[in-house]
Amino acid sequence: MSFTATTLTGSKPEQYAQLLEQARALLHGERDRTANAANLSALVYHALPDLNWVGFYFFDGTELVVGPFQGLPACVRIPLSKGVCGAAASTRATQRVEDVNAFPGHIACDSASRSELVVPLYQGETLLGVFDIDSPIPARFSVEDQHGLEAIARAYLESLG
Ligand code: SME
Repeated sequence: MSFTATTLTGSKPEQYAQLLEQARALLHGERDRTANAANLSALVYHALPDLNWVGFYFFDGTELVVGPFQGLPACVRIPLSKGVCGAAASTRATQRVEDVNAFPGHIACDSASRSELVVPLYQGETLLGVFDIDSPIPARFSVEDQHGLEAIARAYLESLG
């Protein structure tokens, strides 16, 4: 398979529409959750500016365990009661944190992170994990970024069949 990621252009919603199309093309025909998480992390990390970590945590039945990612080595296990990732998993709501230092219980894996977006991944009622994106820029993620990255997370879930 050969895949070419082209530079995103236009308004933010237009850029996310292009990124979603690239994500769908990248995941097409493959259902392996690790393979698709690895490729999606690489796609998003290199397509969007000002990110220092993009990746997945998978729920092992007890806690969140780090999966494929791009960025510096990260915390391996996160209880559902801890951090931005735990909050997304336990509330089932995307966490868009403008200042991670002001978030109670934030887990600083990479001290460069200033803002963070975490999308919960549910297959029906079953928690699969979370999709976590960190930035060294405060308030890096707008509502448009949230919607764009939620759509990419949905494409990931759909790819698993
Ligand atoms: N900051 C996250 C931990 C994971 S790292 O950002 C990769 C949190 O508070 O859950």
